[in-house]
Parts: sequence; structure tokens; C-alpha cells
Amino acid sequence: MKNKIHALLAEVEEIKVETKEQLEEFRLKWLAKKGLVTALFDDFKNLANEDRKEVGKTLNDLKNKAQEKFNRFKEKFEGGEETASSDMDLTKPAEPIAFGSRHPISVVRNQITDIFSRIGFTVKEDREIEDDWHNFSALNLPADHPARDMQDTFFVAPPPPEGGSKEAYSPDFPPSGGLRGVVLRTHTSSVQIRVMENSQPPIRSIFPGRVYRKENISARAHCFFHQVEGLYVDENVSFADLKQTLLYFSQEMFGEKTKIRMRPSYFPFTEPSMEVDISCFICGSKGCPICKGSGWVEILGCGMVNPKVLENCKIDSKKHTGFAFGMGIERIAMLKYQINDIRLFYENDVRFLSQFKSA
Ligand code: PHE
Repeated sequence: MKNKIHALLAEVEEIKVETKEQLEEFRLKWLAKKGLVTALFDDFKNLANEDRKEVGKTLNDLKNKAQEKFNRFKEKFEGGEETASSDMDLTKPAEPIAFGSRHPISVVRNQITDIFSRIGFTVKEDREIEDDWHNFSALNLPADHPARDMQDTFFVAPPPPEGGSKEAYSPDFPPSGGLRGVVLRTHTSSVQIRVMENSQPPIRSIFPGRVYRKENISARAHCFFHQVEGLYVDENVSFADLKQTLLYFSQEMFGEKTKIRMRPSYFPFTEPSMEVDISCFICGSKGCPICKGSGWVEILGCGMVNPKVLENCKIDSKKHTGFAFGMGIERIAMLKYQINDIRLFYENDVRFLSQFKSA
């Protein structure tokens, strides 16, 4: 009997009590009227006198131990704790906190601004709600210019009825009848005008920001997106400077083996105007679905700043020349990360966003 009690002593010690239910089980098994301890005391009565002393002591130990354990956990649970895990290890490191991640548009915008910062371009931002003058007229797109049809515009206030002068188109000089020709900017080229009106060359800056166009939403187009505009105006800025700057950018962004190709194009605010393609970095120009088999993908529009635009901003076009370019951030991001649907950028599905954690 003595050995049996010793074994039970060890058992009491080891029993896990983590919940109120387990404590009640413990009480029923060990301490209740029909429990183990009572049963042992019954057996004890039948022992021979000479054994009683020793066995009695161990039996009392067992009873006290069980009672003490019960009291300890009872107190704990009455103190408001629902569970009292004996496994709790206060020295364990805490669970890692889930940090958010940058939006891929911010990631790519930062990459672009970093690359241009390294070659001396400063970064400026300006308003998204623009007047007709800065978004169109000053950029050599007068009211009747067919190139205005190139862009579908969201108007905040209706276009001016006639004329192309700064007075007629600027909200600084509202014609009778109130504010006219206020738009959600259709491109960041409006910031070129803002900057050239307010400073004289040398100007070497990029202008990132959101732009708006009245497009049907699809996998390839959205009614707002982001651009980065570039502008460099100084004495003797040449076409070679433009080409070298864009080659540098393309190789930093897409890899040092990247080649660029320029195709003649048309923008009223640049002359000559070009569209720039890069050699397809996905297939190494062998031809793939991304470059539609051609080996080249378009990334931006650019050109030498039209002297008329310089004059509109009171910059002497006999003394100064410049280049400008504009690229879509979504387009660059879609190429770089092989994203096939522009809408993913605006849905903010965490499963999409969290993939850019380390970008
Ligand atoms: N603003 C033009 C566009 O949105 C891009 C561009 C910028 C072209 C600067 C030439 C120079 O398509």
C-alpha cells in the first residue's frame, strides 16, 4: 500500500490543470467523497497496527498535496483567469508583428525618382486640378487644336467658349460667367508650365503625380493613373542629352543590357517628338507575348521642348533649349513585375500588395 501511495503522490504532481473543467475533474477524482483519497483512508482502517504509522503519514501527505494543488488552481481561476497554462514560457520571443508593405506604384515611383536623382534631377509635385492654360494652351494645344482629341478630359468647369489666350483660359482671369476650363489634369506636362513660369533655366527636374483620363476601365486602361514627367532646360541642351539620359534610365531600371529605340511621334509641346521603346528584357528581344513578338516594348513619350512652349513661359528660346519626357508609372511597373491587369493596382487586395514587401 505504501508503494501505491508513493506512485499516486507522483501522479498528483504531474496532472495538468489548465481549465476550470479540468480542475473539477481533478476534484472529483481525488478529493470527492467517492474519490481516491477517501477510498485509501477506508483501506487504511484495515491495516495492521504496526503498519499504520508509516502508511498514515504518506497518506496524509497525499491528501495535503491534492488539497493544496486544488486550492492553488481554484484561487487562480477565481482571480479571473480562464485558463492557467502551465506551458506558458514568459521568456519566449513574441510573435512577429505583421508590417504593411509599400504599394507597388510607390515602389516604382521611388525607383524612378532615385535613378533621376543620381544624375541631378530634383523632384517636384504640383496640383491635380488644373486650368486649361497649364494643361493645354501653354503646351501649344489651343482650343481648336485637333491634338486635344488625343486626350479625353474630365472637366471640373466647362471649357472656355473661344480664343486661346492666357486671359481667356486661366482661372486667374475668369471671364464673365465664372470659372471656365478647369480640368483634372490629363498629364503631368502641366507641371512643366508651372515650373517654367516660376523659374529660369537651368531647370532639371522630374514631376511625379496622378493624372486623369475619361477612359473605359479595362485590364489595360483606367480613368486615373500615374506619370513621371521629366524636364531639362538650359543652354545647349541637345537631342544627344535626351537620348543618353533615357538610355541611362532604361538600363538602371531594366538591366544594363537594355537597348533603346526611338520612333518619330507627335506631341504639340515637343519638336521633334519621339516614342521610346526598350529591348524586351523578358525574352531578350527574341519575341514573346509581352513584346508581341517584336522584341521591343514602348515605355515613354519625349522630345525637344517646343520653342513656343518656352516663350509661353517667358523663357528666351533663342538662348535656351530643353528636352521633356513623360512615362506612365503603371506601365513601367506592369512590365517590370509582369502584371497583366492595371486594375490590380487599385483594388488593394492584400494578397497582391504583400508580394512587394521586399521590392
Ligand atoms: N504628356 C505626354 C502624354 O501624356 C507625354 C510626353 C511628355 C511627351 C513630355 C513628350 C514630352 O502622353
